[in-house]
Amino acid sequence: MKKIILIHGPNLNLLGKRDTKHYGDLTLAMLENAVKKEAKKLGISVTTFQSNYEGALIDFLQKNRNSESFRLSREPKALTADGIIINPGALTHYSYALYDALLDTNLPVIEVHLSNIHKREKWRSVSVTAPACKKVISGKKAQGYLEAVHYLNKIIK
Ligand code: DQA
Repeated sequence: MKKIILIHGPNLNLLGKRDTKHYGDLTLAMLENAVKKEAKKLGISVTTFQSNYEGALIDFLQKNRNSESFRLSREPKALTADGIIINPGALTHYSYALYDALLDTNLPVIEVHLSNIHKREKWRSVSVTAPACKKVISGKKAQGYLEAVHYLNKIIK
């Protein structure tokens, strides 16, 4: 069975109570369940993680990185997923540490935003994490996550 990890960054634990115009009215649990349901149809299992702390997100990514790609690595094989879907929240716009951590997972990453980050404040249109990702889906609310599952399914081995 293929495995993907669904990660949410700061403030996304409050989904359902945040501005519904931008983020829709699903709670994080509802959103995670919708992703799990869609993934199950494709034979993919989903592990979820949310944190308001940049370091906790990085620790989680390090634990799940694909260390197999480094032939000289003497690290024990980490519990590895086949791919990652992440909504980094506001960290998207400034966290080079998260960018590095995503890159170092050696896994395909899809970045998803509920709102359209290009149609809001100017600073939101910059994603420093996007270059570590295969694709960015923005502004499609929950539907964007379902598209991310299908996209990942096509590219994971
Ligand atoms: C967000 C967009 C970010 O700018 C914002 O800080 C969030 C959510 C989105 O899903 O649209 O917290 O990532």
